[in-house]
Amino acid sequence: MFSPEEQNFPLKKVKDAAKEIGTTNVVVLTGAGISVASGIMPFRGKGGLWEKYDPEEVANIENFRRNPKKSWVMLKEVLEVVEKALPNPAHLSLARMEEMGFASSIITQNIDGLHQKAGSKTVIEFHGNTTRLVCLGCAALYPAREIDLSSLPPYCPVCNGVLKPDAVFFGESIPRNALYQAHMEVQQCQVMLVVGTSGMVEPAASLPRLAKSKGAFIIEINPEHSYLTSSITTLFLQGKAEEVLPVIFEELCALRDY
Ligand code: APR
Repeated sequence: MFSPEEQNFPLKKVKDAAKEIGTTNVVVLTGAGISVASGIMPFRGKGGLWEKYDPEEVANIENFRRNPKKSWVMLKEVLEVVEKALPNPAHLSLARMEEMGFASSIITQNIDGLHQKAGSKTVIEFHGNTTRLVCLGCAALYPAREIDLSSLPPYCPVCNGVLKPDAVFFGESIPRNALYQAHMEVQQCQVMLVVGTSGMVEPAASLPRLAKSKGAFIIEINPEHSYLTSSITTLFLQGKAEEVLPVIFEELCALRDY
């Protein structure tokens, strides 16, 4: 691992972040950037999924209903990558932070289940989870790995309805429970740690705004400036999640004298 001095996040800033995190109620918001080191492509930017596919065509619910096979070509590719992916040091650091009482919950826009694989317990899946498939006919749920994807689209073994990943498509609402829980968490947090999101997609992008309006300190980790950096972020740590979070975790341990 690089030392913080070799990165764009000086140790002084990391120590400041750890001090904020170590003393109060922290909620974490994660986006696709946290899973890049696990081999999962982000949505936007260079190498992003939306460079290869048009999101309106393949990830809009109306178009999925009209032509599920077209969406499933992209979905199958994503599922194969997600199935093989393992949590990276960023996911693992967040899981340890929760275990040690430094973070109360993770709100994730990711649909890869990697926070849970890393051991995080309180994970609010704001955009659902693609490792589950849901039947558009009878609403039955299936683990994606149990469904044969050799012919597309896959159909429900019970009612023959079309199966769709249990993830939020454009034009669909955020699951009601996730929306409610996320709002409860955000309204109570004193620090929000925002990791690897472009901050471009609503309503997730409004969560840091809500936290800030309630007086929370916003720490952001991202190698690039996001839509939130100049308007919402209080402390910006410019770097990769998988490199910055382990250093924050070490600092937190030092604060606790571990
Ligand atoms: N560590 C941290 N951040 C990173 C890393 C990394 N190693 N690599 C890239 N990033 C940052 C990028 O700079 C970018 O700001 O992660 C962000 C990824 O942005 P998006 O691809 O837009 O992902 P996200 O913000 O999660 O997208 C939100 O959009 O298409 C929908 O439903 C989809 O949940 C998704 C939502």
